[in-house]
Amino acid sequence: MTARILLTGGAGFIGSHTYVALCEAGYECVILDNFSNSFPDVPRRLEWITGQPANLIRADVRDGSTLDKVMRTYRFDAVIHLAALKSVPLSLAYPGAFIRANVAGLCSLVAAMERNGVNRLVHSSSATVYGKPEALPIPEHAPLSFTNPYGLTKLWAEQFLSAQAQRQDDWAIGVLRYFNPAGADASGLIGEAPRGDGGNLFPLLAQVAAGKRPYLPIFGGDYGTPDGTGIRDFIHVCDLAEGHVLSLERLLHQGKTHTVNLGSGRGHSVLEMVKAYEVASGHSIPYRIDSRRAGDVAASYADPAMARAVLGFRTQRDLGEMCASSWLWEDGQKSRVAARANRRIPAHAKRATQQSRMIRWG
Ligand code: UFG
Repeated sequence: MTARILLTGGAGFIGSHTYVALCEAGYECVILDNFSNSFPDVPRRLEWITGQPANLIRADVRDGSTLDKVMRTYRFDAVIHLAALKSVPLSLAYPGAFIRANVAGLCSLVAAMERNGVNRLVHSSSATVYGKPEALPIPEHAPLSFTNPYGLTKLWAEQFLSAQAQRQDDWAIGVLRYFNPAGADASGLIGEAPRGDGGNLFPLLAQVAAGKRPYLPIFGGDYGTPDGTGIRDFIHVCDLAEGHVLSLERLLHQGKTHTVNLGSGRGHSVLEMVKAYEVASGHSIPYRIDSRRAGDVAASYADPAMARAVLGFRTQRDLGEMCASSWLWEDGQKSRVAARANRRIPAHAKRATQQSRMIRWG
């Protein structure tokens, strides 16, 4: 029988790609999203990619009575929880909002799962829980810490889930520590579209290449790295999405709790990314070296050995694919805006609009 999955935050950047990976793996998937950082045309786009109507519920994970209704209706086998806030600069400005979304949201979800007998959970965590890493690459047993309020919420969330797994021995939880997700689906129909100024590198590279911004500010040129700029482990979002499927399978088939890094194991500097994006987009990317950004670390990349051993996870896509797919998404937005302005809606889009279900609950 097909397992049925609740995907919270499934209309967002990582969520929409995870939805596609789950459909490709044969899962039945219902998205729950409050659209605070995503757009309402995502279900239609998901339908274009998967060829199946998307089931999407507009609701907030902090609304327990709505979660109860949804869980009673669909009787899920597992939950993948991605509904959270992730911008480091915004977390410094609004720490309370981050605690409410990332910690209270998770507590509300876990309580609803308990009330409705769902005990398999994949949780989106982050390499931010390593704080300022003491050694590279970073293994899962490295000391945990935080350098900003966002990191603190991810650490609290992990600690809460660890207590939950100890208290309820019939629960199985997969904690996935993402490094730096980048790129987009090969269709160019979904990608990273942050509302406002989230501050992540990839959307900014895309916007500068597209001429929407005059230059990229590079935060720090004086780190102790070979070219002085920060180093990160960029992972293609489709590889990351497939990591969720592997984690889910381990929970559903073996009932085994796990915590793993999802990264490539390779670090690239901000300047290397600028060069790679210029090649992929065919546009030059002017930049200016600025002062360091509060809360940043010099370098961070994963030891991917545990994910390989526990989940059989291995990244398949390289930096060139990350940049090329990101650019396809960014460049395609121009033609989509033009198509909308000219009211040219393709026939398959009309069908999708009729079939995909967006339900407002709560
Ligand atoms: N950067 C710039 N200029 C910009 C934006 C970013 O130079 O305009 C630099 C940053 O200083 C950093 C690198 O690009 O050196 C990556 O920055 P991002 O903001 O894209 O990503 P972070 O590494 O700060 O954080 C990301 C996610 C977090 C996650 C973390 C895990 O946003 O959610 O990776 O490593 F926790």
